[in-house]
Amino acid sequence: MYENENPVFDNVDAYLEERLTPPDETLELTLNRQDEAGLPPMAVSPLQGAFLNILAKSVGARRILELGTFAGYSTIWLARALPEGGKVITLELQDVNADLSQRNFDDAGLADRIEIRRGPAEKSLNILINDGVKPFDFIFLDADKIRYPTYLDQILMLSRPGTLIIADNVIRNGRILDDSGKDPSIRGVRTFLDMLKDHPQLDCTALQTMGCKGYDGFAMMYVR
Ligand code: DHB
Ligand code: MG
Repeated sequence: MYENENPVFDNVDAYLEERLTPPDETLELTLNRQDEAGLPPMAVSPLQGAFLNILAKSVGARRILELGTFAGYSTIWLARALPEGGKVITLELQDVNADLSQRNFDDAGLADRIEIRRGPAEKSLNILINDGVKPFDFIFLDADKIRYPTYLDQILMLSRPGTLIIADNVIRNGRILDDSGKDPSIRGVRTFLDMLKDHPQLDCTALQTMGCKGYDGFAMMYVR
């Protein structure tokens, strides 16, 4: 799925992982269960998980929102960034993924700080908005790419000045340059990136990433 043409990218990831991300039974168990369940390796890489963790800590995040739990790998990295009393709300469409993630959170001893909300993220976000919840400090957007534009409008309603938003998978092995409109996921991410152009509320950048997850990237948005 993530075959890099040049093995140096995988090798460098392995080299850096060995030095920078210590072996971690909880995270390994989560990835093993993801494989055993026959799920594709869509979780962020260990180095990317550590990146999200450091960002969340750097902004002092107490309230984190994640769109797209999947098997809970990135959720665990995010939950570990929280201070005492902090919370991650993570949104997941698929019950099988949510069940697997809940097991992972229970076994990780993180169940008290992670809340999974099941069903379409769009719906869960509307509930959060209508409930008038406190704004989130850090938001990780990693749900279905087709709806990134809708999610952006919604997560801005759940943000405050200073909220940091990270969106995964904005490069897709360079397929982001495909303007044919044929691939709905690419179309979704392109529309999302168009919305960022001259956005009145957001300072934006994007980082291209290369490693064991292939060639992809993060968009990064700071709410003014
Ligand atoms: C896919 C989704 C992801 O969130 C990801 O990080 C990699 C791949 C996908 O839908 O293929
Ligand atoms: Mg992703």
